[in-house]
Amino acid sequence: LQCIHQAMPTRLRLAPPKRPVSFMFDQEELQCEQGDTVAEALFGAGYKTLSRSPKFHRPRGASCLRGGCEGCLVRIDGAPNMIACLTPTTEGMRVLTQNTIGTRDFDLLRVTDWVFPHGINHHEFMAGVPGLQDAMQGIARRITGLGVLPDQALPARPAEHRLCDVVIVGSGASAQALASKLAASGRTVELLDDAPGPGGSMRFMTPQQRAEFASIEADFARSIARIRMSTTAAALFDNKLLVVGPEGAQLIEARTLVFATGAHDTMPAFSGNDIPGVMSARAASLLWSRGIRPGQNAIIVAYPESGPFGTALAGASGIRIVRGTVVEASGLSDVTGATITNEQGKRESITVDAVIVDAPRAPSYELAIQAGATVKHEAQGFTVQTDAGQIAPGIYAIGELVGTALNADAIEAESNRVANAIAAEYSGIG
Ligand code: FES
Repeated sequence: LQCIHQAMPTRLRLAPPKRPVSFMFDQEELQCEQGDTVAEALFGAGYKTLSRSPKFHRPRGASCLRGGCEGCLVRIDGAPNMIACLTPTTEGMRVLTQNTIGTRDFDLLRVTDWVFPHGINHHEFMAGVPGLQDAMQGIARRITGLGVLPDQALPARPAEHRLCDVVIVGSGASAQALASKLAASGRTVELLDDAPGPGGSMRFMTPQQRAEFASIEADFARSIARIRMSTTAAALFDNKLLVVGPEGAQLIEARTLVFATGAHDTMPAFSGNDIPGVMSARAASLLWSRGIRPGQNAIIVAYPESGPFGTALAGASGIRIVRGTVVEASGLSDVTGATITNEQGKRESITVDAVIVDAPRAPSYELAIQAGATVKHEAQGFTVQTDAGQIAPGIYAIGELVGTALNADAIEAESNRVANAIAAEYSGIG
């Protein structure tokens, strides 16, 4: 066990950090680049297995780097279940693996998977058996729990009720393009994003890819729109938006509410798609843009109708790209191999340490549907339907959420159209 724990991971950072930040990961002191999230920092240090699945304790790693896969939950400074890919690393931070007996690499609770190869219903296992029922409940709690309570209870913070003019959920290219236009027309605009940095999908792009959006970002930087990061728009109640972030909880009533929530990474169904080292092309592109190799021997598999991250990453990094699909990925705690089928139907088995999957992204429709939006099921997921961006009076949806392509021309055209629709509605109200 000791040997496994002390095996040195392969460092994946391309160059030593220029502005180093030191933090502890379990018993080891690590350094990362200032601005890295905890997940980026750990990946750069070569740690791909960050957590364990709650029930069968299968190894889990960062797959999306966007708060969508739960592969990166860790304990940070005494607080459980922190999403490592949304948490910036700070000097002296203490990051601990949670939910294991043993170590992150060698978790004794993994035997659950081997003892019950066909799954286990822990709610009913031994239920009703005198004497065993109570013992089993204790075991089930230990096996299936996620972390343990914080070291200290957080003080209660009062929630605030705010009236706002324009609130845009998201800070990607679509959000920025629309925000600039609305701010220029005299509206007071506020953007919210749960990510640690602004830019939405642009944050994940290689510099070459991101250059396409330079004028959108420059216009936004000149605008007076306010932007709030690490702030989650959690739900919509009766057209009031529940927002939670560093400023506490707020219930926001906006005169104009815009959803620019983008799209989720999808992971196609194939055996081994949950092994650490299997990740989305968008996540791998973020690693590369932060100076971290996704793997030393990686492959990008670009599915039909996918893009643009796989192609851009292949061009910037030289990582081999295959257009096709993944049949399976293999490996115990890290991915070590993959079988893929290319466009011509030729099957190939390869040795790899990272499988980068570029699959069509699924629109993040969850908030829009709470506002009453109609959705249409398409191959990649549920696309929100709008009338010139509008889904209900005073509520709009834009960007990948509604199927707009992630390219600057399409986004500029859409932002003009929706800004005009919002202005027309606003002048009618005014
Ligand atoms: S939730 Fe953090 S990597 Fe997916």
